[in-house]
Amino acid sequence: MSMVIAAVAVGLGALTIVLLLIRQSRRRAAGHGRVNSKVSTAQPKNARMSGWRIAKAIPGLGEDYRANSAVDRVLTTKLEHHARARAARTRDTSRDSIEQQRVEKSLPGIETRFRALLDAAPVMIWMSDTTRLCTFFNKPWLDFTGRTLEQEMGNGWSEGVHPDDFERCLNVYVSSFDARKNFTMEYRLRRRDGAYRWLRDTGVPQTDADGTFLGFVGSCVDITDLRQAEEKFRSAFEFLPVAILMLDQRGRIALVNEQTERLFGYRRNELIGQPATMLVSQLMTSSSSSPRPEALTTGAARDLLARRADGTEFPVEAKLNMVRFEEDVSVLATIVDRTDRIELHRHRQELAHLARLSTMGGLAASFAHELNQPLTAILSNTQAAQRLVEADPVDLDEVCEILKDIVEDNARASEVIRGIRALVKKGVPEFASHDPAVVICDVVRLLRSDAIQRGIRVSIDVNGAPVKVYGDKVQLEQVMLNLLLNAFEAMDGCVSNDRRVTVLVTHEGPQTVRVAVRDHGTGLSGDQLAMIFKPFVTSKPNGLGLGLSISRGIVETHGGRLWAENNTDQGATFYFTLPIVDTA
Ligand SMILES: Nc1ncnc2c1ncn2[C@@H]1O[C@H](COP(=O)(O)OP(=O)(O)OP(=O)(O)O)[C@@H](O)[C@H]1O
Ligand SMILES: [Mg+2]
Repeated sequence: MSMVIAAVAVGLGALTIVLLLIRQSRRRAAGHGRVNSKVSTAQPKNARMSGWRIAKAIPGLGEDYRANSAVDRVLTTKLEHHARARAARTRDTSRDSIEQQRVEKSLPGIETRFRALLDAAPVMIWMSDTTRLCTFFNKPWLDFTGRTLEQEMGNGWSEGVHPDDFERCLNVYVSSFDARKNFTMEYRLRRRDGAYRWLRDTGVPQTDADGTFLGFVGSCVDITDLRQAEEKFRSAFEFLPVAILMLDQRGRIALVNEQTERLFGYRRNELIGQPATMLVSQLMTSSSSSPRPEALTTGAARDLLARRADGTEFPVEAKLNMVRFEEDVSVLATIVDRTDRIELHRHRQELAHLARLSTMGGLAASFAHELNQPLTAILSNTQAAQRLVEADPVDLDEVCEILKDIVEDNARASEVIRGIRALVKKGVPEFASHDPAVVICDVVRLLRSDAIQRGIRVSIDVNGAPVKVYGDKVQLEQVMLNLLLNAFEAMDGCVSNDRRVTVLVTHEGPQTVRVAVRDHGTGLSGDQLAMIFKPFVTSKPNGLGLGLSISRGIVETHGGRLWAENNTDQGATFYFTLPIVDTA
């Protein structure tokens, strides 16, 4: 496109200069000494502007025109040559007339070609004279309006201006004209099909070599599509459900959307020009040691405290992004109210806790059994020790062995109680590094009695080097508890040989560990596969149907995935992954 514009511009320049030469020759022949504003009105004055002036006045043409220096040099040389020739000719009118004939002969029809080039320009071009009246419109203009040159001439063009834009448009035109100043204005002009289109009109005053004002030349581009795109952007910006602020590089507010007004309780005009830190005091402060503001505009979200107009504070998530509009650099701040999110998180945790209580309640009998074993062992060992102590002589070695067993059984009972208490107690999550194999072993140990009662064998298979994941142990245990109990329950109707659950820990690439809980139970129907992760979906008379949805939530907040597949032979396998943070 720019090559086409350059070619048009160069062509315009070349032909205009030549046209200028012809005109000057003609005028001299008619007795005029030099080009000025008072020349004959047979041709519009602006038609006598040089090619480079017109090219310069039309955005996109001037630079390309000048840039083509090779052609420019040729033209400049021709012009200088002509100027010298003209100086000589003023002393010799007969030689002048010969020169004029030579130019006209060598460049036949050049004026027509000049006009053809103006008509071929990719923009709408107009020219006005010193009285503000328009004297020329190129073909793209006439094609656009569907009117004749005669209709548009003078003030005729203004009939097509949208009535709502007319006064503003006229004021800009008249005031710029009188001040001889460049102007750019946007207005709607009626197209030939009756539709109004937005034009960006750029007018530039023109003077001749002596500085005499010749009128204006202007060019228009249809910016309707651009304005529509801008309008869409503005609407999207305005109605986005998050607060968005455009800041200058010093952190002052340049633009805000409606949600910002609503969230902070300020009106727009109270915010524009103010520092963004009046809303979020830490917004422009880097938590890292880097003092550069660019360090903040990484798009990473930060949890900060915001302040409303009434002084109340609330938690927000704030992101800063650098936005470049050509030369202009701005900062886009996105602020999301976290109050609801924090509430939701709290509710989720409460629900998870209630679900845990429910699960643990269902396991009360097996926990009692699990505790009963070490307690019974402790009792019988204590009785044996008593008998040994009463004997004569006392077999101290045997007594020591018995006491050691009692300590071990006590430790086992304490471990069960600790495990139960950890799962039942209501506490805030405590994130730390854990070996997933250790978490799995703890849960399997807790369920040992339940598994024995059901006649289920549980095996744990850990492949690869030990790893660590980062998370809350209680939550991770809740996931395992749920998956193992589901597997146990799915095998309720199975023959005893099939009652096996295998827990397989493998590496899924260098950064992820995968846990698979495989059973030989009923498996999952197609419908179940689609539904079981939704809350309150259960096939069990006493089930809440929350286990899997809570487990998936936990795994996802730990950065992993939880899904289920049917085994090819029998039963189902539930998988979950977790990111590895460190090797154990
Ligand atoms: N290993 C499995 N084999 C077959 N079906 C399963 C298995 N695990 C889960 N399901 C099905 O998915 C349903 C939902 O499981 P989920 O753990 O969410 O709830 P629940 O076990 O029914 O109740 P609870 O909330 O007490 O855990 C179960 O009712 C069961 O129908
Ligand atoms: Mg369950």
